Amino acid sequence: MSKTQTYLLELPPLKTMLGGITPRAFFRDYWQKQPLLVKNALPGVEKLISPQRLRAFANHEDGESRLVQRRRGRWSLDFGPFSADDLAALPNKDWALLVQGVNLLAPEADRLLNHFNFVPYARLDDLMISLAPAGGGVGPHFDPYDVFLIQGLGRRRWEISTQKDRRLIPNAPLRILADFQAEQVWEVEPGDMLYLPPHCAHNGVALSECMTLSVGFRSPSDQEMTVQFLNHLIDTVDAPDYYNDPHLTPTRHPGQIPDAMLENIAQRIAKALKNSDRELKSSIAGYLSEPKPNIFFNPPERKPSLIAFMQKAARQGIRLHPGSRLLWHKKVLFFNGEQIYPTPAEYPTLVALADQRSLAGDAIPGTAMPRLHDWFCAGWLDYQP
Ligand code: SIN
Ligand code: CO
Repeated sequence: MSKTQTYLLELPPLKTMLGGITPRAFFRDYWQKQPLLVKNALPGVEKLISPQRLRAFANHEDGESRLVQRRRGRWSLDFGPFSADDLAALPNKDWALLVQGVNLLAPEADRLLNHFNFVPYARLDDLMISLAPAGGGVGPHFDPYDVFLIQGLGRRRWEISTQKDRRLIPNAPLRILADFQAEQVWEVEPGDMLYLPPHCAHNGVALSECMTLSVGFRSPSDQEMTVQFLNHLIDTVDAPDYYNDPHLTPTRHPGQIPDAMLENIAQRIAKALKNSDRELKSSIAGYLSEPKPNIFFNPPERKPSLIAFMQKAARQGIRLHPGSRLLWHKKVLFFNGEQIYPTPAEYPTLVALADQRSLAGDAIPGTAMPRLHDWFCAGWLDYQP
């Protein structure tokens, strides 16, 4: 994590950030339904991450950065890391640098992302930040997920459209709408926030040097989730019986597959799948808790003894690694893809950790310490600074 002095952004109450409506009203009237522009939703947000710092993140080995350029009407897309020299060589117009997962690189960005925890963590993805000179942007497109676009530095013009025409420019390296017809235009300035529901077409053009922070959400495709479950089933399916047919009768067409045989097999498979029903939800929950593929946890070089860990955790408190995903459902926890059955004594503490992503030292009872010590040794959580 960066050692840069962190800027402590004052995070407004949710109702203020949402323009005077409660999160409940936001879900009812806007979420997945229609755009919402909130002027001055997050005052001071432009001071959170400077353009220089974002450029440095774009050079980070673990970062995920992309550079979109438009040259003589043609779009190009390059993947980072980008050195300071690469970025210094860029022209003064028509590009946009996008850095994904800034929450993993800067604690203050992680804090901003987690301010959106009125949405379950299972849905929250990451904080992406873009930097563009005047005229820059990634072109008109739509995304299959919801997004909060927070204007950091500079001004940007957002054009949006509810058009159903989703044809894309053929053979372009990124998804650009072939025929974008803007219906609404908004100019945003630092602190303004635009919420867009999935599939709402948008085009953001920088009006001056411009940084935009995107709070993104996870919306895995049904295809991906079904394949994930089927893979899980391959490992766990429990169907020990063998095909049998005690009522078989003689056939005059031995080449023909008997109807009854196909029906029998279909029923046997349906029974095996039904037996796996209860596996379905826990498999999905485990999947939802999987960290992003580019996350690596670094276990501490010297693992502390349980006693040493307890003393320091009680003094400083603990917090989850920003790439850790700790979720819970009923009595089971799902942590970075693993299923965990807590004891009744540790359960409330671990649920509080999942909800808050950190715990003060005096909120950790001795009963929860051995489990937290294991997770600390895996690099999944850390002491609070
Ligand atoms: C950007 O910040 O330039 C792109 C955000 C988006 O359009 O989704
Ligand atoms: Co977009």
